Amino acid sequence: MNRQLMTEFKSFQRRLKTMRRVLVANTKGGSGKTTLATNLACYLARLGHKVVLEDTDRQQSATSWLSRRPESALTLFNAEALSKSALQKADWVIVDSPGGIKDKKISDAVTEADLVLVPIAPSAFDIGAADDFLALLSEEKAIRKQKTFVGLIGMRVTPRTKSAERLAEYMAETEFEVLSMLRASQIYVTAAEEGLSIFELGQQLKEIDIAQWNPVTDWVLQNS
Ligand SMILES: Nc1ncnc2c1ncn2[C@@H]1O[C@H](COP(=O)(O)OP(=O)(O)O)[C@@H](O)[C@H]1O
Ligand SMILES: [Mg+2]
Repeated sequence: MNRQLMTEFKSFQRRLKTMRRVLVANTKGGSGKTTLATNLACYLARLGHKVVLEDTDRQQSATSWLSRRPESALTLFNAEALSKSALQKADWVIVDSPGGIKDKKISDAVTEADLVLVPIAPSAFDIGAADDFLALLSEEKAIRKQKTFVGLIGMRVTPRTKSAERLAEYMAETEFEVLSMLRASQIYVTAAEEGLSIFELGQQLKEIDIAQWNPVTDWVLQNS
């Protein structure tokens, strides 16, 4: 290919490339936001996409997870370390948000995002808090106008328990799409300790986890 053609091809490629923003949010602390954000980021990086993690939580859990990543791990970028133009060249920006996020900030973050993922753990406290948060989301203009889509994910779920059943019933009654239930498993905890995602665990990654993640990643890829 001659130089002129190559330049044109590259500029065409750049125009095709659009950055997608996924906000992982729930005002309830400990609902699984950081776990979801870091694992999703790695799943997309494994597809060969350029993925940026934006850690908006003062506790900086995602940032410290990034700093624990071994050299052999998939490449992820920290938004903090990137210039605005480098950020624009990303395929995905995954935003991990804090527990006590305020209404105005939620509104701004939702407006900027293409997708919002809400992890909800199975307990009465978590469901109560999620219900307030989802009520807030349903008032958001971007969501009402279907510019931003919301997906719910049951998190840290022990299958065939009463609490799993209650969570499933609750999520099904909301106006939002229910994507999956991710099981409670130590693999999430040990992977996080090592700065890894479950997708980087090799043999330890079980079929059941792949099957539970598939609807999440399919939805993210299809709605972007
Ligand atoms: N599916 C899961 N199975 C087991 N432990 C989980 C799972 N998801 C999250 N955890 C654990 O639950 C705790 C809270 O999750 P985290 O992602 O930090 O929540 P948040 O970011 O919303 O505060 C962490 O210790 C995390 O390792
Ligand atoms: Mg967190």
